[in-house]
Amino acid sequence: MAMSCPLNRYLLLMAQEHLEFRLPEIKSLLSLFGGQFISSQETYGKSPFWILSIPSEDIARNLMKRTVCAKSIFELWGHGKSPEELYSSLKNYPVEKMVPFLHSDSTYKIKIHTFNKTLTQEEKVKRIDALEFLPFEGKVNLKKPQHIFSVLEDYGLDPNRIPENPHNIYFGRWIADGQRELIESYSVKKRHFIGNTSMDAGLSFIMANHGKVKENDIVFDPFVGTGGLLIASAHFGAYVYGTDIDYNTVHGLGKASRKNQKWRGPDENIRANLRQYGLEKYYLDVLVSDASKPSWRKGTYFDAIITDPPYGIRESTRKTGSQKEIPKGMEKCPESHVPVSLSYHLSDMFFDLLNFAAETLVLGGRLVYWLPVYTPEYTEEMVPWHPCLRLISNCEQKLSSHTSRRLITMEKVKEFEAFLGYCSCSVPAAFPGSVLSPAIGFST
Ligand SMILES: C[S@@+](CC[C@H](N)C(=O)[O-])C[C@H]1O[C@@H](n2cnc3c(N)ncnc32)[C@H](O)[C@@H]1O
Repeated sequence: MAMSCPLNRYLLLMAQEHLEFRLPEIKSLLSLFGGQFISSQETYGKSPFWILSIPSEDIARNLMKRTVCAKSIFELWGHGKSPEELYSSLKNYPVEKMVPFLHSDSTYKIKIHTFNKTLTQEEKVKRIDALEFLPFEGKVNLKKPQHIFSVLEDYGLDPNRIPENPHNIYFGRWIADGQRELIESYSVKKRHFIGNTSMDAGLSFIMANHGKVKENDIVFDPFVGTGGLLIASAHFGAYVYGTDIDYNTVHGLGKASRKNQKWRGPDENIRANLRQYGLEKYYLDVLVSDASKPSWRKGTYFDAIITDPPYGIRESTRKTGSQKEIPKGMEKCPESHVPVSLSYHLSDMFFDLLNFAAETLVLGGRLVYWLPVYTPEYTEEMVPWHPCLRLISNCEQKLSSHTSRRLITMEKVKEFEAFLGYCSCSVPAAFPGSVLSPAIGFST
């Protein structure tokens, strides 16, 4: 039986990367643009094809101006599990909704997109010919058409068991592409100033999207490092500010992280990174400061706090202070410069971070951060919590067979009240964050 095609249905073609991060990204962006996530699909697990209802095409376009998890969006005209079901679904789609895009003055082209199978040119042409019954009156223009239509065929996810016929076939009018090209254009490889833990460009944009960062927001990163997360927020029009305990990182001094380069060059700093992307006007400042001793007057300052705290793997967790005599000549330590440091236990660090966010975020503001976990021991109860912050999403990125990090997004839902409760986050032995640990390379 043909599947009906309700009005205002859209088809999202998702990228097959960072699968767990996709749904929170789309939900966050829809809520940012006044939409609501409404869908008849039961799971969004791994499929690249998502059907959802969006109140207007404007909201769909706004969504695509931000998403790095979705490749394209289509106004869905028909959907079926076989060609016959698709054609019958298309015949049920209201003609008055088609006509504005098919009239005689218009130009168009039809594309065939397959997932998990490659079709020959002949097979593609057959599929296009089979759509003859649609009231196309315009002229075909392959180079610069006004309207692009797509047939999208889904052959499942298993490359070792590709079915003869697709599981699902969709037909839709292309509306917009997402922002996947940002991953390349902001690649850390081509960035002016980087460090060993500079955040991957794609994940930085995902974090800014989970944080619902928008124009004119003020976004803060208390563990700013080389400012990778500030760049993504600034790209979306937010003013950015950061702090780090390491003087050399903040001032762009010390040893370079690039091969073939010993020392950081002049102007290798966060401000210059923003300049590289034409975003300097969004730079507020970066300061040397210890996140365990925030020096802020009481108040709400930030629309979002987006951060990647140290895990004690490539970056040690430290705070200022000393149990010993202050050592002399610390300026001779060129790699990092934290004059005098004490260990900062990870659970204290997350406790401080949540309290700080609860105090300084505006109501509705979001905290987005990475939590390292030792997977065999992890349970959801280990995720730090705070009475003023609601958990929005918790997505895993595996790092090794036993370790992962989880991207936690929380929203401030209540005016600040100091929380003295115990922070129960699991800090596994695999993340020896309570000591100044040596750098162990791992790739993210
Ligand atoms: C994982 S890195 C952040 C990397 C950053 N997202 C980037 O793109 O470069 C963590 C940073 O936290 C800093 N840090 C460690 N302990 C700190 C503390 N107590 N207060 C503030 N910053 C601290 C480290 O110097 C390091 O730069």
